[in-house]
Amino acid sequence: MSLVGALFLLLLLFVIIILLKYCERVWYWRKQNVELLNIFSVLQKATKDKPLYRILQNIYQDMYEKRESFKAIELVLISGLFVQDQKAIEQILVTQYESFADRGLYANPNDPFLANMGRLEYDQWRHLRRKLQPCFSANSTKAMYPLMHRVCGEFVQVLRESVTQKRDNILEMRDLCSRFAVDVIGSVGFGVECNSLRDVNAKFRYFGDKATTEHFRPLLQFKTKYLNILKIFNVKYHSQETREFFTQLVKETIEYREKYGIQRADFMDILIKIKNDPQESKNFELTLDRIVGEVFLFFTAGYNTTSSALCEALYELAKNPEIQDKARSQVMDILDRHNNNITLEAVKEMRYIKQIIMETLRKYPLLFAVSRYSRRACTLPTTNGSLNIEPNTLLLIPSHAVNNNPEFYPEPDIFQPERFDKDVKRPACTYLSFGEGPKACPAINFSYIEMVCCLATLLRHFRFSTCEKTPKELLFNKEMLRLSVENIFLKVEPLNK
Ligand code: HEM
Repeated sequence: MSLVGALFLLLLLFVIIILLKYCERVWYWRKQNVELLNIFSVLQKATKDKPLYRILQNIYQDMYEKRESFKAIELVLISGLFVQDQKAIEQILVTQYESFADRGLYANPNDPFLANMGRLEYDQWRHLRRKLQPCFSANSTKAMYPLMHRVCGEFVQVLRESVTQKRDNILEMRDLCSRFAVDVIGSVGFGVECNSLRDVNAKFRYFGDKATTEHFRPLLQFKTKYLNILKIFNVKYHSQETREFFTQLVKETIEYREKYGIQRADFMDILIKIKNDPQESKNFELTLDRIVGEVFLFFTAGYNTTSSALCEALYELAKNPEIQDKARSQVMDILDRHNNNITLEAVKEMRYIKQIIMETLRKYPLLFAVSRYSRRACTLPTTNGSLNIEPNTLLLIPSHAVNNNPEFYPEPDIFQPERFDKDVKRPACTYLSFGEGPKACPAINFSYIEMVCCLATLLRHFRFSTCEKTPKELLFNKEMLRLSVENIFLKVEPLNK
């Protein structure tokens, strides 16, 4: 037999094995009484006017009405469940979290950029999470606050200058909020003055955008069940240029600080202390490469998230002037009691501003879903029974759909910060913008402080309103599962010169 013939036979055999395996899996789900979700047909239906997250929201809502707990996603190499059942969601994220303590994301041990806290498996993740917890403690946030506050002041200056250069007072806020967020995370993460608010072409901004856009390939994000194909081919998501930039930056910063004994209230400082503490190295050593990976994660996790939330909050405030007035009046009242300074204590009192951010993130959570991966076989109780879960099953919890379920949030398309008044109660795990349980975002408090400080500073100095160029609705890329992308033009009027 010729080589071509042999290869053809091999390929045929492979296809037959895959088909048989697929049939076996379909049969497995049928026995479990779980309907299949045709993910390829879902992907095909996505258009600019009907992006993926909306299609998934409709599927979730339909399941909710029919009380259908799960739908299966079967790709042989990845077997997953799209979870609607609220009791199961709580079990996965909180009650039985140890059985589901991985995200199922591909991690590459040879690439620190793909082997950080967000991707590592449970055994390594739990040491890292405990070690890095001090980065996000109330004391660290307090120490970092002056750095954030300074960048907020700079934002006001830049906004004033930009407005005076425009006759119509119309500014594109997405870009400005991005530049603000890069400067904050650069300062509190790396101890670097990124200067992107002032310099549109600042390097940090360039690499921040590059790093967050060059790696987003939804299906390739997940590890495979049998052959770890991505690992075999040593797949890396980030370009050499991006990796070199961040590696060099972290290494030079650490060398410089260690040489001159420089201490600064930022993430880098805490990471250097952990690295140099022999007690801390017992279970899990924080090497230089690991620090690069973690700082990179903090940068990418903390950049687009806060900037999107901020400009989406401004967009909603511009569309809802009565909410904006109420917010500004609360800011002014609180500042009266704090000598007109936006101190950390004042920020903590600004409950309504925090509610505005919570409502923004409810309406526009940055991820369409939170993922978990079963580490072992277990039984998942649901509202109307239970389901046996095999090891290596991916679980997708549709955070956007849960956050917009009218049962939990009546008239979910209406922007209403009062939903988060202290006395309003709702079931557990119905607000998923930061995830939930021990794997939830560790920077919740840090992010709220940063965003409340920024929003309060802006409201104190400017009024925001819509103009002809303001989008009627926020649109998302058709294939994008997270983050709105549209420019947000707003009219910005200074309140006091
Ligand atoms: C508006 C701001 C933010 C939002 C909405 C957000 C949202 C999220 C979400 C949904 C997760 C996954 C949670 C889960 O799987 O249950 C996450 C994880 C994470 N976030 Fe955030 N995040 C924000 C800001 C930040 C910032 C500023 C940082 C760092 C400076 C950060 C660092 C992380 C890290 C390290 C993880 C992984 C945690 C782990 O695996 O243990 N996030 N975030």
